[in-house]
Amino acid sequence: MKRLMQPSFILIAIGIMVISVSLLWIINMLPLISYQHVPQEVSKLIGLSQANLSEPWRISMTEEITQQAKKYPDMRVIITDAVDSSERQVDDVKRLLAYGIDLLIISPTDSKILTPVVTEAYKTIPVIVLDRAVEGYDYTLYIGPDNQLIGRETGRYVSELLGKSGGQVWEIQGRSGSPPTIDRSTGLRQEIERHTGIWLTKTVTADWLRDQAEDALTTLFITNQAPDVIVSQNDAMAYGAILAAKKAGVSNIKFIGVDGLEGTNGGLDLVRRGLLSATFICPTGGKEAVNYAWDILEKKPGIPKKIYLRTRKITAETVNDNVDPYASFRHPRSKQEPIRLGFAQVGSESRWRLTNTKSIKDAARDAGIELTFIDGQQKQTNQIEAIRSFIKQKVDIIAFSPIVESGWEQVLQEAKDAGIPVILSDREVDIKDDTLWATFIGSDFLEEGRRAARWLLSYMKQHPTEDGEIHIVELQGTAGSAPAIDRKRGFEMTLAPYPQYKIIRSEIANFYFDQGRDVMKQILETEQRRIDVLFAHNDDMALGAIQSIEAAGLKPGKDIVIVSVDAVKEAFQAMIQGKLNCTVECTPLLGPQLMKVIQDYFDGKELPTRIITSEEVFPAEIARAVLPKRRY
Ligand code: AHR
Repeated sequence: MKRLMQPSFILIAIGIMVISVSLLWIINMLPLISYQHVPQEVSKLIGLSQANLSEPWRISMTEEITQQAKKYPDMRVIITDAVDSSERQVDDVKRLLAYGIDLLIISPTDSKILTPVVTEAYKTIPVIVLDRAVEGYDYTLYIGPDNQLIGRETGRYVSELLGKSGGQVWEIQGRSGSPPTIDRSTGLRQEIERHTGIWLTKTVTADWLRDQAEDALTTLFITNQAPDVIVSQNDAMAYGAILAAKKAGVSNIKFIGVDGLEGTNGGLDLVRRGLLSATFICPTGGKEAVNYAWDILEKKPGIPKKIYLRTRKITAETVNDNVDPYASFRHPRSKQEPIRLGFAQVGSESRWRLTNTKSIKDAARDAGIELTFIDGQQKQTNQIEAIRSFIKQKVDIIAFSPIVESGWEQVLQEAKDAGIPVILSDREVDIKDDTLWATFIGSDFLEEGRRAARWLLSYMKQHPTEDGEIHIVELQGTAGSAPAIDRKRGFEMTLAPYPQYKIIRSEIANFYFDQGRDVMKQILETEQRRIDVLFAHNDDMALGAIQSIEAAGLKPGKDIVIVSVDAVKEAFQAMIQGKLNCTVECTPLLGPQLMKVIQDYFDGKELPTRIITSEEVFPAEIARAVLPKRRY
């Protein structure tokens, strides 16, 4: 039977509407009101532009930011809520800028739409981007969760749950096309593909929303056999799926979620009630954003470009007793003596490496950190021995630049057992247990490969070959090393959609000038096909190769287009002489950031998983202008 609305109900409804609209107006105007009351002594006025204040995860981020800011004497935060509208968020940023904020923290609704206004803001004040990145690099610092890692961790847990017998998995995704959706899914798939008995048989999109997940899963349960595990990209959607399963009378499904928030029906609550098998903490980065905002405004050295935060698995065993597998990554120190750091370097293969060594030694001295430095002379066994000697000496902390990615489990376990944290500097390791190292500081090598390829694509558009084919020779760095693996992958990945770009030779020259020269000479002598492009994984090999190209009677930079990585001064000189066409920056100046992280650690701050340095691309046209400003 239809129920008609009584006049009194209509009046109440109108009343509620009027109050809601007024409330919205007040909320919207709050920043202006609070700014007008910002006391004179506040020298650090932070504008926080939040995508929405309806998702629990964002509410928690905002709360973290306001609470953390209170810990600093002359800092205030004014907040705007874009109510999930990108257009509104663009206006919010403009308003915050007009108020005269000293620094902008923005968690964008949409990466693309927000990019221009962030670029605009960055022209006048520092900008910290939280969670979803914007396009390009026009910001001071990006802080976000390591979404691929979260995805991989959920995948690992699936295989733990299913064991050898395997089974079927469904995935519930957040908003389609958004970076966390893509990255978490990629990570999950990477792990699942490693197991022959586990199949991902369905993927549904539910826009991060509980109700949407519930509806989608209700429909699916009608016509499909239930899976063994459902992996949801957040806890809210996992809860929706749990409700749908209950309605459909389906049991025996294991649910995995992401976020790990407190509160009724938050991830932790669902784990406690036995509804979720696990949730993976997705840190909001709010606390870190405020700490870095302070450091940036105080003009402290060692501010990175990107920071990826650590995730943590929470199950029934760990949800109540505060067991924290990463407890060793927070270590307030009461001792007054200087921190003792053991550093195991790769060797001295390149100009980059020599500068890197100097940067570490100088920064340790400046920070008052007692450094024991060992040169591994290009041998993994030497580096392992060095780490063991640091353990014996009972240093406070170890840092090293792993020559290759694999083979470190044993020695890192020894360091962990001895209670000594290990920081990866410059190069990453490929090991499953990410509790064996505290954090990584260095470059995004994959991105460097992509940048080299992107530059090449745009250059070759302006300088096409006669037959349209582009034959590339690649000089690789040390086999098995992170920069060689990732630069190669990034380069190939970006060129993959363009079949006319053909890597006709790819040889190892170990990052050395001499080897770059000799390997290129040998290629030029034996290669029958035309060589249009040289991609060298570092400048030293490119500079060596230039000698051989000239000796062969060819003009480097003209007959053969050359792009390399590192951006050392000698590469700029070669560009000015017209012998090199582009260099992609990879900064060796990691010392100040390393010392900052070490000090943060001993101040009791939780370290992120990855700290990525700020880098650029330098084509030959700007070499002359840039060279005087280069520090290495
Ligand atoms: O790991 C960084 C790489 O190692 C540099 O690009 C290369 O020059 C160095 O030797």
